Amino acid sequence: MSINVLAICGSLRAKSANRGLLRYAQANAPEGMKIHLADLLDVPFYNADLAEKPAAVEQLLKQLGEADALLLACPEYNYSLAPALKNALDWASREPDNHLLSGKPAAIMGAGGGMGTSRAQYHLRQVCVFLNLHPLNQPEVFANAFAGSFDTDGNVIDEKIHGLIRKQLDALLKWQQQLSR
Ligand SMILES: Cc1cc2nc3c(=O)[nH]c(=O)nc-3n(C[C@H](O)[C@H](O)[C@H](O)COP(=O)(O)O)c2cc1C
Repeated sequence: MSINVLAICGSLRAKSANRGLLRYAQANAPEGMKIHLADLLDVPFYNADLAEKPAAVEQLLKQLGEADALLLACPEYNYSLAPALKNALDWASREPDNHLLSGKPAAIMGAGGGMGTSRAQYHLRQVCVFLNLHPLNQPEVFANAFAGSFDTDGNVIDEKIHGLIRKQLDALLKWQQQLSR
């Protein structure tokens, strides 16, 4: 039996370093964990006036419903989390009783400037409080996207970051088991 982890990237860029972190995670998930990547490309800004949810939103909500845990790649835009990621969480939070998110474990990672998206990640942790998501505390993954740790396609090539991601996934698996006891 494997737990099902939905990975959500806050960058829509094809060669995103943040998506590169998630690709590495997906390819190196520990035994007992399967990671699927969400696609936010066609998810519009949340708008309560939309009579029907767009197909991309329905797909995201379905994947969230099937997920035992979340893996959030959090780019930093102007010292905060990127709008695509916040928007995905906003859509999910409007479902009855916030049942898609409430009580779920989440691991957070990010690639950006010298602070490794730490400022944005701490904003995201604040958002998790209201959503009743349970973010994993440690290890934190703060990657510098501009110091030779990524290739030009956004793949992470730094072994230290590889190790950190693997450790975080191991910790997420344990955290999910602890919370579901
Ligand atoms: C609108 C905007 C604001 C940004 N602000 C920050 C910032 O506050 N801190 C930071 O470290 N990087 C900032 N960056 C640079 C991003 O870290 C960089 O573009 C990074 O590669 C984005 O992640 P991605 O490669 O996954 O797209 C900003 C980029 C954009 C587009």
